[in-house]
Amino acid sequence: MSPTRRRRRPAEDVPRGRARVAVSILDADLGNLAHAVRRAEREGADRIHLDVMDAHFVPNLTFGPKTVKALRRRTRLPLDAHLMVDEPGRFLDQYLDAGCDSITFHVEVREPIEPTLRRIREAGRAAGLSLRPKTPIAALEPYRALLDIVMVMTVEPGFGGQAFMADVAREKLPAARRLLDHKLYGGEVHVDGGVNRETAEIAGGLGADMLVVGSALWIEGHDMGREIRLIRALADEGFQYQLNGGVPPTPRDAMVTFASLPRAEAKRLETAIEAAGVPVLLFRAHDDGADAVASTARTRWDLLLPASAEAAVTARFGDLRATLERERA
Ligand code: DX5
Ligand code: ZN
Repeated sequence: MSPTRRRRRPAEDVPRGRARVAVSILDADLGNLAHAVRRAEREGADRIHLDVMDAHFVPNLTFGPKTVKALRRRTRLPLDAHLMVDEPGRFLDQYLDAGCDSITFHVEVREPIEPTLRRIREAGRAAGLSLRPKTPIAALEPYRALLDIVMVMTVEPGFGGQAFMADVAREKLPAARRLLDHKLYGGEVHVDGGVNRETAEIAGGLGADMLVVGSALWIEGHDMGREIRLIRALADEGFQYQLNGGVPPTPRDAMVTFASLPRAEAKRLETAIEAAGVPVLLFRAHDDGADAVASTARTRWDLLLPASAEAAVTARFGDLRATLERERA
């Protein structure tokens, strides 16, 4: 290995905070996209953001499903497709087949939106809607229940390297968050356009979960990994001081123990919570007393869930937990 070639990130470097960065390859060397996605992965990207443009919906043309499918083999990172096309429904199967993990298209398209959202979800992928800077968030209301992702565009779609529209971010990011409030788990607000180290703190302070970053990461001679880490840290700083009362955000992947119950009761609670869309882990925990070895009835099971869902799960399942705890007593 040559001395300049950098090693993979050590495990302790894995992002601990809340904000995530999706690297847009729009401004990478389009002649060597395989290298671009591998580099983004090596430098610590959380996702790859794929800007698909059809020269109709936007005045620019990029790549299609064949390219996406070829890139699927080059990285283990999730692929977020951002379809800036007139007819997402017509080409959807090809993007599903290409291996996209999430598919987001525009609410301004002139075709029925609901069937496309349903098909994405039926394929087990995350479904998203994006909006141009001038389109109000209210346009998404009818599709609320079908949305995993709301992608707020803070530039006119079509090109990388444009300036961040802070007013649009201030108006729409909190509203996008509220739109996804009913989801106990998994709802994501993405901010796309003009995100860099100057604007990441604003975006994080307005509650964005996923920062899409393009041109700021593809500057020759710049350290991409450092830029990604800075942008994540700045977004978390914004979140901490704008929305979280000065408390550092809970790492996105943290798990918390929600209940500790005998197996049957723990199973009942697990079934109920999972039916609401929250992933649950069940672990055989500890016994109630010194003589418990013989008494399987007293073995407890810890029910773990993502920390990010704890408040919403407590609100909805707190009573059931209390009931089951009483039964156990
Ligand atoms: C623009 C695209 C963006 C673009 C962002 O239409 O949707 O994803 O790549 O690029 P920057 O970060 O340069 O604004
Ligand atoms: Zn995009």
